[in-house]
Amino acid sequence: MVHMDATALITVFFNAEIAEDARPLCSLRWRGRYHRRHIRVRRSSLDKSNADRHRLKRLTMPRALITGVTGQDGSYLAELLLEKGYDVTGLVRRASTENFARIEHLRDRLTLVQADLLDQLSLIDALERTQPDELYNLAAMSFVPSSWQQPVLTAEFDAIGVTRLLEAIRLVNRRIRFYQASSSEMFGQVREVPQTEATPFHPRSPYGVAKVYGHFITVNYRESYGLFACSGILFNHESPRRGREFVTRKISDGVARIKHGRARALALGNLDAQRDWGFAGDYVQAMWHMLQQTEPGDYVIATGEAHSVREFAELAFARAGLDCREFVREDPALRRPAEVDHLIGNSTKARTVLGWRPAVTFPQLVDMMVDADLAALGR
Ligand code: NAP
Ligand code: GDD
Repeated sequence: MVHMDATALITVFFNAEIAEDARPLCSLRWRGRYHRRHIRVRRSSLDKSNADRHRLKRLTMPRALITGVTGQDGSYLAELLLEKGYDVTGLVRRASTENFARIEHLRDRLTLVQADLLDQLSLIDALERTQPDELYNLAAMSFVPSSWQQPVLTAEFDAIGVTRLLEAIRLVNRRIRFYQASSSEMFGQVREVPQTEATPFHPRSPYGVAKVYGHFITVNYRESYGLFACSGILFNHESPRRGREFVTRKISDGVARIKHGRARALALGNLDAQRDWGFAGDYVQAMWHMLQQTEPGDYVIATGEAHSVREFAELAFARAGLDCREFVREDPALRRPAEVDHLIGNSTKARTVLGWRPAVTFPQLVDMMVDADLAALGR
């Protein structure tokens, strides 16, 4: 591993003039994290053409690899990192049909590599090929009810998959900074209100149990091997890109269908469950901040406000000029074998250390989601 100032490194391998051109690029936050990729470029292959400048720029950009880039959070995080000047690669698993709707608008700026959390060698190969500075592990089976249908597969993805990624880092390059997408679902039957980084876990679903494993293996690799590995304990975060099976999107989509005459009612499960709901666009910023610190750590990311499913539905229907009581019916079949009744987070650590705070309020989030679904169905 080479440890040099970026400009000095480029000067060694290219001519001084190009190194001078590269100086502004080198002011990006590098913190001395350089990889073999910088040494692979042959001096003779460069002149001062635009193509070479572009190539040089890519070489000096910080690199991020995102697993789960096709998901809600992956798409927002990819946008954020591209805005910050990262070279972003998304890890995607093979499917018979492409599932790139959420990243369609980024396709020409993103590199995609195929790999799967179930396949150790594919992960090692992805890290070898992309040589990232930062690795964000967002891939998971993320829908809680499905984890009772497929508990073993859920553990393979959400628990052992994390170990596979950490092992890949250990083998390929221990300087890669790692973010693990942990979850407030780990608190489950909560031991204290609100929940902090110190609150003990009591998960209530196979998903929650698998996430507890993912959290602790991240902590363990930090302690065992000195990896810069962080666990973000994120409370529920939503957006117009949320999957339609999750309750907030199910409601905003249901409201839009009813408003446009495409449905007459909306069946929901437990209306009394309470969640601390924030906006996904705000939450991916916290992920990035965690990997920019001088020391790795674990952080609760939450708004500090809890609302019931009923409140979400009331606001959502009202946004479309409808009365929720006329359209929502409770279906006992949608209740869970073990429920998480009430989650509310205390994100003081993130606010103090990372300087993070959410921008979008609960009513703004509801309006944003309903407006987006009304507009999409009205097109
Ligand atoms: P999401 O929309 O369901 O996206 C999940 C992503 O994981 C998709 O890109 C999916 O790819 C990918 N994936 C699943 N299994 C994979 C595998 N075996 N190999 C490679 N990729 C795989 O989830 P999200 O809401 O963005 O959440 C992101 C992460 O944060 C998840 O780990 C979730 O558990 C966690 N989390 C979410 C919240 C929340 O409120 N959103 C809160 C706390 C924690 P396909 O497109 O191929 O299916
Ligand atoms: N999905 C769904 N569908 N949930 C319903 C419904 C319904 O028809 N009716 C009531 N709910 C209640 C659920 O019982 C739960 O208490 C609450 O709404 C939220 O459910 P989801 O939106 O499915 O989210 P979640 O809290 O189970 O899980 C999400 O947040 C976790 C963080 O706490 C997911 O994003 C997880 O991946 C994430 O880790």
